[in-house]
Amino acid sequence: MTTQVQKPGAGGGAEAARALPALADFALDPEVHHLNHGSFGAVPRPVLDHLAALRAEMEGNPDAWWRTLTGRIAAARAEVAAFLRTSPDSLAFVPNASAGASTVLASLRFPAGARILMTDHTYGAVAMGVRRVAAPHGAVVDTVHVPLDASTEEISSLFAEKLASGAPVALVVVDQITSPTARLFPLPEIVAASHAAGARVLVDGAHAPGLLADPLGHASGADYWTGNLHKWTCGPRGTAALVAAENVARELVPLVNSWGAPNPYPHSFDEQGTQDVTGWLAVPGSLAFFAERGGWEAARETMDRTVTAAQALLAEALRADLAGVRVNEAPSMRLIPLSPVLATDRDSAAALQLRIADELRCEVSVTSWDGRGFLRLSAHVYNRPEEYAYLAERLPALLAAAEREAA
Ligand SMILES: Cc1ncc(COP(=O)(O)O)c(C=O)c1O
Repeated sequence: MTTQVQKPGAGGGAEAARALPALADFALDPEVHHLNHGSFGAVPRPVLDHLAALRAEMEGNPDAWWRTLTGRIAAARAEVAAFLRTSPDSLAFVPNASAGASTVLASLRFPAGARILMTDHTYGAVAMGVRRVAAPHGAVVDTVHVPLDASTEEISSLFAEKLASGAPVALVVVDQITSPTARLFPLPEIVAASHAAGARVLVDGAHAPGLLADPLGHASGADYWTGNLHKWTCGPRGTAALVAAENVARELVPLVNSWGAPNPYPHSFDEQGTQDVTGWLAVPGSLAFFAERGGWEAARETMDRTVTAAQALLAEALRADLAGVRVNEAPSMRLIPLSPVLATDRDSAAALQLRIADELRCEVSVTSWDGRGFLRLSAHVYNRPEEYAYLAERLPALLAAAEREAA
């Protein structure tokens, strides 16, 4: 018999309905300032409870558990598809955006000499995947350099120029919200130009669910889109969606060959060996939790307001010039440029990030892009302005010391 576990959002009082979730609603260590939601997310307690109940059910009777999964995964998929305003037939569950991108890349055959376009803002691990897939086909990876301060019109024309010059482009891989630089790319224009040039488009929407009200509307027309549910929607880790247009979906097979393989997309993705799918089943609870606790629109407004103020505060404290960065583009993530001698590459960025975590007990993201270092601040609903004020008070001294050491 299946034990019915109650998922978050399936009840709750009127008071809960008014209040946006706060730090106490998450299992985050209150001794640490968690200002880097964008990297790994954070899961609300009721979702963790639901997850634990699902795991207990699985462990209580594994045979019965695996007998129930098909219908339950389909139901969870339908809820996520509704949240993303797409049809359940277009959406497959994958463990993460890397798996979504890898699945698409593995499904394609590239003619020798064909180009795969990406940008110099492409997430590093996805870029590695593109290069790895291109090599055996003899395909060529070509990179669009997008200046940090490029306007949306400039970005669109940079893509159009690259598409028009050189060998045919088979695939364009483009971020919706960039990881190192927190930029929102003009997808409608990029998708249209790519299709006009005969290229398919894979949108890496890792950050988009929860941050954008309608990520798939913004990526409309793209052949493939993948987005994480464990980032801004606060689902359990290991939850992401892959959405494919009908004409290409049938070419997609999961990375793991298993019993689901003969099934049509997206059902083929539901069964990939004996894997733990409790995260997939729990993720609709996270969507419902935020819908009930103040609503997604209010959550986005709060996150954006918090991070906008935080960026201004930190920029002032660090005497950073924001002229070269877009201050108000990707909701809930913002850049503050660092001194030119700091975080000039990935390793030194990681070392600085660790130092800030160790010395200030502040988790932030330090990114390095085009030889320059940036502080990338995130804000979710549990973040309070005082946390950024705390960072703004202490960070200048730490960075001054790091600069002296780097000189
Ligand atoms: C733009 C972008 N793409 C892909 C990924 C990879 O996500 P995951 O590690 O969950 O596969 C990330 C992770 O931060 C990202 O920011």
